[in-house]
Amino acid sequence: MAEPATAGVAPAAPAAEPVLEVRDLVKHFPLTRGVLFRKQVGAVQAVDGVSFDLAPGETLGIVGESGCGKSTVAKMLVNLERPTSGVIRYKGEDITRLSGRALKAVRRNIQMVFQDPYTSLNPRMTVGDIIGEPYEIHPEVAPKGDRRRRVRELLDVVGLNPEYINRYPHQFSGGQRQRIGIARGLALQPEIIVADEPVSALDVSVQAQVINLMEKLQSEFGLSYLFIAHDLSIVRHISDRVGVMYLGRLAEIGSDEEIYDHPTHPYTQALLSAVPLPDPTARERRDRIILSGDVPSPANPPSGCRFRTRCWKARERCAVEVPELAVPEVFRGDGGPATHPSACHFAAERRTVPTATEPDEGE
Ligand SMILES: Nc1ncnc2c1ncn2[C@@H]1O[C@H](COP(=O)(O)OP(=O)(O)OP(=O)(O)O)[C@@H](O)[C@H]1O
Ligand code: SF4
Ligand SMILES: [Mg+2]
Repeated sequence: MAEPATAGVAPAAPAAEPVLEVRDLVKHFPLTRGVLFRKQVGAVQAVDGVSFDLAPGETLGIVGESGCGKSTVAKMLVNLERPTSGVIRYKGEDITRLSGRALKAVRRNIQMVFQDPYTSLNPRMTVGDIIGEPYEIHPEVAPKGDRRRRVRELLDVVGLNPEYINRYPHQFSGGQRQRIGIARGLALQPEIIVADEPVSALDVSVQAQVINLMEKLQSEFGLSYLFIAHDLSIVRHISDRVGVMYLGRLAEIGSDEEIYDHPTHPYTQALLSAVPLPDPTARERRDRIILSGDVPSPANPPSGCRFRTRCWKARERCAVEVPELAVPEVFRGDGGPATHPSACHFAAERRTVPTATEPDEGE
């Protein structure tokens, strides 16, 4: 395996002391053959050297095509998957190798909200039991006698009637179920919420309500969010910073303005060029990049830059040298909006989507 692309780099570190530091995170799923004598014949390199920081109260959005490793990163953060290697630090403490009571204490602070509110809630449990379930594992947060009151309070906090406490999930709409999922995520008063596509399964009209609720809760409780989504417009709306993933690695990371208005990585530029635009004039003026080929298999990723098989700028160097996720040399010291980490040997600004105020000059 090539050296991780981000070794030792802390990309776009926010000013405040990070609540979460992720360094060179790797998850390889073994590929095995045989029934009686299982033999490892390879590995799916789902996540291969991802590093980022999350500041208190910050929202970091993660975008990228299906299968690029977003959910695997999320699961490692909440201990649903064990990293192959790499480090996750919570307030400076390495939590990757904790176990038992110490792990339990730390994990309380990092909770997850899942994508599908239809399958992630147990249909046989009442809403009260679903939201209160985390207290079974952490009775110190809410003593038994106080749990119903807490759950009612949580229902109210997420905009649901506390009287619904004895209802079952099927008695709620999709948006309401996701509110229940969020209430459960909040039960242990975490500092970090990892939200894996929290609105992707919802109707467009309901998505905005859930996003607004998440923003309200963030300012009310000072939460930090890792917000995973396919939809680039939603990510821009909610995120302070955005990381773009491709085939198990981060291609580019920066503030929403840096990524959306000044992208320097060809993959980000291609993704942005495909965003649906409601304004027909903007649609006509946009610089659409059509990528050739499919995403390669993570079991056999390209050498060097993983994007090179689809990149129109690829040269020889791209096949032999893994581009580091760092501020590209051409922009160092420049101080402008392109001065953010981008894992490309030939990083250059290319805006594919015009803004409303931009004069029509063509390319
Ligand atoms: N338990 C597993 N065993 C083997 N391979 C896995 C496992 N979980 C995920 N993968 C593979 O790892 C890669 C990354 O998957 P992951 O679910 O993290 O992607 P994703 O970015 O969340 O995709 P999506 O947008 O479709 O949710 C995929 O190729 C997937 O098939
Ligand atoms: S390193 Fe090469 S292949 Fe990769 S994005 Fe940059 S130009 Fe394209
Ligand atoms: Mg996923």
